[in-house]
Amino acid sequence: MTDSASTAQTMTPVRIAGTGSYLPERIMTNKDLEKSVDTSDEWITTRTGIRARRIAAEDEHTSHLAAKAGAKALEQAGIDAADIELIIVATITPDTLTPATACYVQQHLGCLKAVAFDISAACSGFLYALEMARTSVGGGAFKNALIIGAEKLSAFVDWTDRNTCVLFGDGAGAAVIVPSTNGDGRVLSSQLGTDGAQAGLLNIPGGGSACPMTTENAPESLAYLAMQGREVFKHAVNAMKKASIDGITAAGLTPKDIKLLIPHQANLRIIDAIVERLEINREDVFINLDKYGNTSAAAVAIALDEAHREGRIQRGDKILLVAFGAGLTWASAVIEW
Ligand code: ACO
Repeated sequence: MTDSASTAQTMTPVRIAGTGSYLPERIMTNKDLEKSVDTSDEWITTRTGIRARRIAAEDEHTSHLAAKAGAKALEQAGIDAADIELIIVATITPDTLTPATACYVQQHLGCLKAVAFDISAACSGFLYALEMARTSVGGGAFKNALIIGAEKLSAFVDWTDRNTCVLFGDGAGAAVIVPSTNGDGRVLSSQLGTDGAQAGLLNIPGGGSACPMTTENAPESLAYLAMQGREVFKHAVNAMKKASIDGITAAGLTPKDIKLLIPHQANLRIIDAIVERLEINREDVFINLDKYGNTSAAAVAIALDEAHREGRIQRGDKILLVAFGAGLTWASAVIEW
């Protein structure tokens, strides 16, 4: 297991200049799912808090969702696509195994001088991307970055498996990262962690070099997401509590200083456990998983954008982002807006 922690003291601080998100039009409710698998609205709502999720159209790929979210973030930041120098897309549902989804996004948006690559850290991916952008832009290698969490999980979910299909949805969220020059907002701390020993708890086993998809194994659903939910639940609660506390401490703050908690949107019971540990008021927690389900790398990014656009984050507010996902991975970031 590795844990990396850093503070923004040794390089130029960075801030978020704009956020954006995009959700596909089609809404799939729990009631809709009742018609296709042996489940109930009552089970899904009580166990997870999820009431609906969005499903991308067949010809709407992860890169399309990502580009739409990215365009909104660029517009809000007031930065031309042509001026973006770095694009990082966090996703576990890329358009293709190669090239990276970020390369398609570069073309969709016209960020023609940007260096573009993907990272795969599941639900923690957006916060991993934030840390890569913080060090890249803060260290001076790039003058700005567009980071995007985007997923089309509906393409990797076994729609006959009630254990997983009720949990996930599609969407994308984005942020533009620039140097913080005038003492305005900045990323105060960032914590990343990985435990590859637990890789088997949550994965998509087929489609990679370990198990290439063939005409023989294709019907065995190996390219679908598989999860040991109860085990993942326990790890999620512990890792997100620790990442939250470590992040707040590294920023030189206490939980009382946090104006808004934006947690990964997987399960309301996981969020409740974290809120209880941090003694943060429930009203100071942003939740949208009821509408979108778990959108993995996109979840924190979408929630950040919605919280920002709804006026839940004001200049000077200190906010805590925290996530957990396959890997296992976890991450937190404390930001002064
Ligand atoms: N409808 C009805 N019954 C169901 C459903 C369903 N959709 N799914 C499972 N069940 C049944 C199970 O079969 C089981 O029945 P049994 O007792 O007869 O065997 C029973 O409900 C209880 O199943 P559990 O898995 O123990 O249910 P639990 O309360 O743990 O909830 C859940 C399951 C929601 C998956 C939970 O464990 C969870 O949220 N885990 C964490 C997921 C997470 O955080 N993932 C984050 C990362 S995701 C990523 O990285 C892509």
